[in-house]
Amino acid sequence: MAGNETSNSVPRSQPAAPSLRRPLAVSAVSVLALLMVAGWLIATANRTNTGSHRAVLDRLLTIDRPFPPEGRFPGDPYIGSRACAECHPGEAALHARSGHAVTLRPASRLALARHLDGTTLADPERPEVQWSYQYRDDRLQLARTAPDGVQRWVVDYAFGSGHHATTFVTLVDPAAPRLFEHRLTYYRREHRLDLTPGQHEDEPRPGVTPSGYLNDPRNSRKCFGCHSTQVSARGGRGIDEETMIPNVSCERCHGPGRAHVAAARGGASGDRLTLPFGPDRWTAESQMRLCGTCHRHPSRARPDQLRPDDPQLARFQPVGIIQSRCYRQSGGGFSCLSCHDPHARAAGDRATYDAVCLSCHAGPGSRPQRAVERSQPAAARCPIRPGGDCVECHMPRVDSGQHILFTDHWIRIRRPGQSRTMRRGPGPELDLLVPTEP
Ligand code: HEC
Ligand code: HEC
Ligand code: HEC
Ligand code: HEC
Ligand code: HEC
Ligand code: HEC
Ligand code: HEC
Repeated sequence: MAGNETSNSVPRSQPAAPSLRRPLAVSAVSVLALLMVAGWLIATANRTNTGSHRAVLDRLLTIDRPFPPEGRFPGDPYIGSRACAECHPGEAALHARSGHAVTLRPASRLALARHLDGTTLADPERPEVQWSYQYRDDRLQLARTAPDGVQRWVVDYAFGSGHHATTFVTLVDPAAPRLFEHRLTYYRREHRLDLTPGQHEDEPRPGVTPSGYLNDPRNSRKCFGCHSTQVSARGGRGIDEETMIPNVSCERCHGPGRAHVAAARGGASGDRLTLPFGPDRWTAESQMRLCGTCHRHPSRARPDQLRPDDPQLARFQPVGIIQSRCYRQSGGGFSCLSCHDPHARAAGDRATYDAVCLSCHAGPGSRPQRAVERSQPAAARCPIRPGGDCVECHMPRVDSGQHILFTDHWIRIRRPGQSRTMRRGPGPELDLLVPTEP
């Protein structure tokens, strides 16, 4: 697995230390044994099986296993987010309840897995096909029964905290792992299973089969990349379930924290506690890039996604914010942090956001509450409703066509029918999309 490329500017790891090798070897043997048993059981149960036979690879660091005290290898700069709670209990408590903290889990650990036990339903597009879910031997199993036979899988991971949706995946071919995205996703709002986004038969894509979507190794790594802190400590482009740090944890945003913890425990103060990405070194722009690595920065969106009338645009909050005059004309005083605590779930109470708008838009003589915004000149008052409900009209929820409502972060004046009269393709509107990446 050793390679000489890493993602995320993370220092390259050393080969596993001898102390680590033995437990790895032991678990590798038991994994192999279980794989063989599981493979045999499934193969004998059904010869048309095309799914994964892996049984016990869902042991993720910081979820099922604590972070090794000495690190995953000598010189490991990461320490795991559990260590942070000791001195930053406030951030830790908020973060633990956020979607970031639980966006990638072994499927067997989900209450949803038990809840689905015994569920059988017809395929949304092919009524002659039945899907059934079983929770047996501590794992979620999935079967597709079609006139031409039965396919079975063991579900390995669940993507998504479930605040909106949970997509189940099975890793196939552990040597060059590819993520098999199951055809059905669980949608929280409707409490039901329906097609996974991108798997409708009327919009065929290469790789999509009647039972799911088999991502290539590169794409598979990308999925893990946005839903974890580090995909592999061993460099290269692989997915390494032994050293992966799942979920968007403290160290994904602040950088590796082992040296910080050691310094703090040793009583250090000031600069010696500086983290790679500490708060006082953010600018609105660098912060937009941090969040944009996953939430999509304009420089990372495909040109055809950058259309004012594209409902998908609402999924890409940094793209929307960067279009907004509030951002562009606030001289760096406006960012995701104006409205969100990066450690917490998005507040559901819309009035809290209106207060943010009014901190700039209350008209001449108003006193913005926040220090950064106090230096800004007062922005225009709303001629329609200057007192509140700002978000309802200027940041409406839109259905991006996937059972999930997203808040359109392009703060603008919306007029009925506007989306239909807006230009498609490049034009003056799109010049606003500063490609800020060099
Ligand atoms: C032993 C105590 C201790 C532990 C453990 C600890 N910190 Fe800190 N941290 C501090 C102290 C002390 C400061 C400086 C005073 C302050 O801002 O609270 C600090 C400051 C910070 C800051 C602001 C730093 C800056 O550059 O301005 C961040 C961010 C931070 N810690 C994140 C973390 C993360 C992430 C972890 C876990 C990897 C962690 N801390 C673990 C004690 C600790
Ligand atoms: C490593 C990728 C990554 C980075 C970096 C990241 N996010 Fe996220 N964010 C996610 C994922 C994945 C989810 C979906 C979580 C879930 O499953 O509910 C999410 C969800 C959210 C949510 C919705 C939480 C809710 O209410 O359900 C907010 C708000 C959010 N992120 C804000 C931010 C902000 C602000 C930043 C930058 C400071 C940021 N994120 C950086 C990946 C990331
Ligand atoms: C470029 C980064 C990125 C990639 C790649 C990515 N995701 Fe996400 N994912 C996000 C972010 C950010 C969110 C939260 C906001 C949203 O839904 O767009 C999210 C949300 C989700 C959710 C919904 C979570 C919830 O309840 O809100 C699921 C499920 C999900 N992703 C699954 C996947 C799967 C499966 C793959 C790979 C096939 C994948 N993602 C690839 C960034 C990414
Ligand atoms: C999604 C990215 C993200 C994650 C995950 C995250 N932080 Fe932060 N954190 C930030 C940002 C951005 C700031 C700066 C906030 C600001 O300036 O208002 C910050 C600020 C801080 C501060 C300084 C607070 C202050 O007021 O000085 C501490 C301490 C901290 N984070 C600790 C943690 C710990 C501990 C965790 C994990 C439990 C964590 N963070 C997870 C993005 C993140
Ligand atoms: C940091 C200050 C700041 C905050 C916070 C802020 N805005 Fe703005 N906004 C501006 C500035 C500056 C402009 C451009 C100049 C003007 O309108 O006076 C602007 C412009 C606008 C416009 C006109 C857009 C256009 O395309 O003509 C609308 C609508 C708007 N803001 C609504 C909102 C809403 C709704 C919120 C809260 C969700 C909000 N703003 C939060 C500073 C801010
Ligand atoms: C002017 C205020 C404002 C700013 C700035 C802002 N958001 Fe939001 N955000 C909201 C509102 C309002 C919601 C909807 C909350 C709700 O009703 O649940 C939201 C929701 C979200 C969600 C949950 C999914 C959704 O679309 O409802 C994510 C993820 C998110 N924001 C990310 C970001 C990121 C990343 C940034 C910076 C690029 C950002 N936000 C900047 C106001 C803001
Ligand atoms: C009922 C829908 C609605 C609500 C609620 C609403 N607005 Fe507006 N807003 C509009 C419309 C429509 C316009 C365009 C008016 C025009 O130019 O004809 C507008 C215009 C604006 C402008 C541009 C003003 C200018 O002179 O350029 C700003 C800024 C603005 N709104 C901010 C806000 C803020 C802040 C709030 C919350 C206090 C808010 N709006 C609440 C519908 C609304």
